[in-house]
Amino acid sequence: MICLIWAQDLDGVIGNSKTNQLPWPRMPEDLAYFKENTTGQIVVMGRKTFESLPNGPLKDRTNVVLTKKKLPEVITIKNLSELQLIQANNLDQNIFIIGGVQMYQATLPLAKRIYRTIISGHFSGDLIMPEIDKRKFETIYTKSLESLSGFSLKFEVLQKIKDSNTLKETSKNCPPLQIDAK
Ligand SMILES: NC(=O)c1ccc[n+]([C@@H]2O[C@H](COP(=O)([O-])OP(=O)(O)OC[C@H]3O[C@@H](n4cnc5c(N)ncnc54)[C@H](OP(=O)(O)O)[C@@H]3O)[C@@H](O)[C@H]2O)c1
Repeated sequence: MICLIWAQDLDGVIGNSKTNQLPWPRMPEDLAYFKENTTGQIVVMGRKTFESLPNGPLKDRTNVVLTKKKLPEVITIKNLSELQLIQANNLDQNIFIIGGVQMYQATLPLAKRIYRTIISGHFSGDLIMPEIDKRKFETIYTKSLESLSGFSLKFEVLQKIKDSNTLKETSKNCPPLQIDAK
């Protein structure tokens, strides 16, 4: 299953192209949620997001980077058709698209599930997520909490509507929806 996972502010801002960084301070609860959901899975990212990672490839996950460049330590792919090959060869794992905005835009039509964290603030950044088409996705999970950073976080999981009837069948292959995000 192809899943997208991102965090955004109340305006849909997810990043800053000038700094190539997240626009908000560290949110430990969101990082824990991200780790919980993606560990053991395949994470796919654009080259700029890969370059923004402070410690290189993410541990305990298969790291795939979409780029024309050759990069050490990760699997590189040049286009999204190669992603479908990776999916076909790894049916026991989920594919998590982890950014950035160029990657999300290109893969939103392929997404079966979206894991979205909404941070209750307004941050300065020029990379903005498009609206999710609510006719195509339904919300299947929400949880809110107060972050140690001082902001409220709302975790949402949205499921592609045409797949909702098969949710029970597919969920055995999915990461847990209920996590303790303390
Ligand atoms: N809030 C969040 O959840 C979140 C998550 C991740 C990242 N971010 C933020 O997002 C920003 C980076 O995102 P970005 O949109 O600027 O860049 P990006 O999507 O991470 O990377 C862009 C690069 O990836 C390759 N690429 C992306 N889409 C492609 C496609 N459809 N076909 C072929 N190649 C493609 C190209 O690499 P080449 O030029 O090498 O060919 C392109 O230059 C940073 O600020 C980061 O902090 C936020």
